[in-house]
Amino acid sequence: MHFSFITLFPSLIEGYFSDSIMKRALDSGMISIDFCNPRDFTLDKHKKVDAPMVGGGAGMLLTPQPLVDAIRNEKRKCGDAHTILLTPVGKKFTHNDAVRLSKKAHIILVSGRYEGVDERVIESQIDEVFSIGDFILSGGELASLVLCDAIARNVKGVLGNEESLKEESFEEHLLEAPAFSKPDNFEDKSIISEFLKGNHSKITALKRELSLRKTQYFRPDLYKKVDKRHKNEK
Ligand code: ADE
Repeated sequence: MHFSFITLFPSLIEGYFSDSIMKRALDSGMISIDFCNPRDFTLDKHKKVDAPMVGGGAGMLLTPQPLVDAIRNEKRKCGDAHTILLTPVGKKFTHNDAVRLSKKAHIILVSGRYEGVDERVIESQIDEVFSIGDFILSGGELASLVLCDAIARNVKGVLGNEESLKEESFEEHLLEAPAFSKPDNFEDKSIISEFLKGNHSKITALKRELSLRKTQYFRPDLYKKVDKRHKNEK
């Protein structure tokens, strides 16, 4: 699967792929990435890529020409691309989107900067517009990394262990139960005793119950969606 990052600041993104799971995914060829900087495409003699909003408004907008030419350049390279713009005014990105998008062959992630992009770019070039949450970042670079990571870990082979994908939160709209590792006692705090007794069906039932309670407490919005079947299990 190929990811194209369209950004004025590729160095903000590159470092993320130099270690850990994303590096392994790149090295093994499960995913590939490239970068395209709209500034390399601007026809402006001063290399400008932004301009004030027409009709007034605070701040600068990315102008259409360099961005559209950069996107077209990436679309030409790989073909069959799905193009995504990251902006705080998009729909909220979810785990279901990550799973759905992991089936695509080529995703172009366009990072917004300044006050956003000219609406005509969205109309002519963008398939989906996503926000990663109700807060404002300085640009879309972090958000495009968030999408890339969340999508790539659903690509077959990237995690190595498909089971860990199955157990992950949100697959069934539940938060994961509290987890513990060694030692059994740490700074006077011990592990939930049932976890130490080795009765796996009891542990599974307890984890399920803790998952439900944790979801109810931290994410009442998710809890409302939890299948009635789960709630009636006990
Ligand atoms: N750019 C700035 N803030 C953002 C957000 N919350 N999500 C996606 N892109 C952004």
